[in-house]
Amino acid sequence: MAARTLLDAPLTWMCFWPLLLLLLIPVALLVESGWSCPSRCNCLSQDKVVSCNGRHLTAVPGGIPPDSEFLDLSHNRLRTLHQGMFSRLRALKELDLSRNFLSNIEPGAFNGLQKLMTLRLKRNRLKIILADFFTGLPNLTVLDISENKIVVFMDYSFQDLSNLKKLEAGDNHLVLVSDRAFSGLQGLRQLTLEKCNLTGIPTQALSLLCHLVELRFKVLNISIIPDHSFQKLPHLKVLEIHRWPFLTALAPRSLSDLNITSLSITSCNLSVIPYEAIKHLAYLRFLDLSHNPISMIHGRRLVDLLRLQEFHLTGGRLVTIQAKAFQGLNHFRLLNVSGNDLQTLEESVFHSVGNLEVLRLDGNPLACDCRLLWIVRRRRRLNFEAQQPACATPLTVEGKVFQEFSEILPGHFTCRKSEIRDKTPQAVSVEEGGQATLTCKSEGDPPPTVSWLSPRKIPFHARQKGRIHVLPNGTLEIRHALLQDSGPYRCVASNIAGNDTLVAHLHVHASTPLWNDSFLWNNLSLLNASDAFHPFFLDIGTMVGVLAIGFVPFLCSVSICFLLIFLWSKGKGNVKHLVIESAPRWPRGYKAVSRRRRTAPKKPR
Ligand SMILES: *[C@@H]1O[C@H](CO)[C@@H](O)[C@H](O)[C@H]1NC(C)=O
Ligand SMILES: *[C@@H]1O[C@H](CO)[C@@H](O)[C@H](O)[C@H]1NC(C)=O
Ligand SMILES: *[C@@H]1O[C@H](CO)[C@@H](O)[C@H](O)[C@H]1NC(C)=O
Ligand SMILES: *[C@@H]1O[C@H](CO)[C@@H](O)[C@H](O)[C@H]1NC(C)=O
Ligand SMILES: *[C@@H]1O[C@H](CO)[C@@H](O)[C@H](O)[C@H]1NC(C)=O
Ligand SMILES: *[C@@H]1O[C@H](CO)[C@@H](O)[C@H](O)[C@H]1NC(C)=O
Ligand SMILES: *[C@@H]1O[C@H](CO)[C@@H](O)[C@H](O)[C@H]1NC(C)=O
Repeated sequence: MAARTLLDAPLTWMCFWPLLLLLLIPVALLVESGWSCPSRCNCLSQDKVVSCNGRHLTAVPGGIPPDSEFLDLSHNRLRTLHQGMFSRLRALKELDLSRNFLSNIEPGAFNGLQKLMTLRLKRNRLKIILADFFTGLPNLTVLDISENKIVVFMDYSFQDLSNLKKLEAGDNHLVLVSDRAFSGLQGLRQLTLEKCNLTGIPTQALSLLCHLVELRFKVLNISIIPDHSFQKLPHLKVLEIHRWPFLTALAPRSLSDLNITSLSITSCNLSVIPYEAIKHLAYLRFLDLSHNPISMIHGRRLVDLLRLQEFHLTGGRLVTIQAKAFQGLNHFRLLNVSGNDLQTLEESVFHSVGNLEVLRLDGNPLACDCRLLWIVRRRRRLNFEAQQPACATPLTVEGKVFQEFSEILPGHFTCRKSEIRDKTPQAVSVEEGGQATLTCKSEGDPPPTVSWLSPRKIPFHARQKGRIHVLPNGTLEIRHALLQDSGPYRCVASNIAGNDTLVAHLHVHASTPLWNDSFLWNNLSLLNASDAFHPFFLDIGTMVGVLAIGFVPFLCSVSICFLLIFLWSKGKGNVKHLVIESAPRWPRGYKAVSRRRRTAPKKPR
């Protein structure tokens, strides 16, 4: 290598040519002792390297020294590998055939390469791997067949590669990995499957890789990881899932057979942290869920990840990290949540901030109030990786990075206790079934969160849905009020600086004594359930009528109605006669219309 760089620079060449001459003498000696170099290749005899990279070769050139250890044939035009074509090169340790047009490999093409450790077939045109492709390679440790057009890994495709440690199989058209495809790969440590058309995880095939340590799946269209997807992989430590745009969930027991130390599920479509699926991973040290639309890290849900040291969730939609989110994580030392929508990060999310070393909080719209004071105080000890967090609010410090606060002046990083504005006593009276609202307007910095406590001490928070719920402005709304809703309601407005309370009274009084909501509802469902009623009770209106006036009066009015209809229809015939008889008396041209008008009531109803 050193010799080549010298040759490249003309100046150095001129200055040092006598020295180079000295260097070339041993090379010349070697050539004489059997080290010839094919005319279209470069050779570095002392390293036993033959490089024929990018020479438009359509066949393997003759004259390659038999003791070569590294042969680079990449970026050529080879189409076929014939049986035994490398058998003379018994010393070869690395063979690079990537970026050719290889579509056909004859069985036994690699025969004799007993010492070959690395074989690169990346970016060729292979469509299929047959069981006898890779025979005669007992010492192969790295095989790269990525960027080909392989559609299926058949049973026993790699059966003779018992020493293979690393298999790169990404970017193929893989549709199927048959159950025994990986049979024989007992030594495999690393496997990458990338950019292929698999629709599920090849659980059966993977279960034969008993020594697998690192497994990577990238750019796949799989939408769910079902229960027990990874079985019999006792040595697996690293699992990486990257760019599965349709992945929205992990089944609760999807990872249950694993004991890994590093898990990445990045650039997928998870909207919630898969707490259930990961909670048994007590040896997990590294967790990366970056670039998922996750909006919250819940409190106390990661407590079982006892050994977790690093948590990454960058480029997500994080709005909230709840208090005690990293509770119980004694070894936690790195939090990377850059590029989210966080306004704050409270000290209470950590088990102990003393252990925290690296904090990436940049790219968030931070509200610089008292909640972030702990970070500013530690700004010289914490490692922000040269990406200082910056304030977005309040306006006075907008855009200012934490490092710029040489000292914390009064007025910086402060909070204002929550306060309820209008405390005039409220007594709201509402009819049963009606709607009532109790107001609670509060202010403070940061804006307080409002919750209500019912007379029966049931708490209601914003974002909860139901008959009784809290509106974003703090108002409590009670729909379909029940008698038992009556009583004192307590509003609590709280923020980190303190809380304030208010009590409002609700009185629900009984409505029309004849019937009430539940009575009506029960009867409605009864009527609905019975088909026999359908001819009579066609709509809710009718039924409400029935229930409102009572059944007996209803029957009476219906009977009277029928009687009237009966009487009217008896007289109907006469009407008809009258019309027809009188018709000729209408002026011409008006006749048809008038007759139609006149006869209209005859239509049966
Ligand atoms: C296989 O490679 C190892 C080095 O990793 C070497 O010691 C061993 O001799 C090789 N085996 C054969 C058959 O060449
Ligand atoms: C795999 O998917 C790609 C892109 O979605 C498609 O072009 C290709 O035809 C598919 N291959 C097979 C074998 O289905
Ligand atoms: C991602 O998930 C959301 C719902 O959580 C869904 O609306 C969206 O279509 C999903 N995106 C893809 C690419 O599947
Ligand atoms: C899990 O892996 C750790 C090392 O990462 C090991 O110490 C521990 O014994 C393993 N636990 C089980 C149940 O295999
Ligand atoms: C944190 O995330 C950013 C953005 O994804 C990345 O560039 C950086 O390397 C991460 N830091 C660490 C320590 O992983
Ligand atoms: C309100 O503050 C008091 C003490 O100031 C505290 O005891 C109480 O738990 C707080 N209540 C809420 C709901 O935050
Ligand atoms: C509504 O009426 C039913 C039956 O008449 C009765 O059992 C129930 O207690 C009443 N509900 C209320 C809220 O008064």
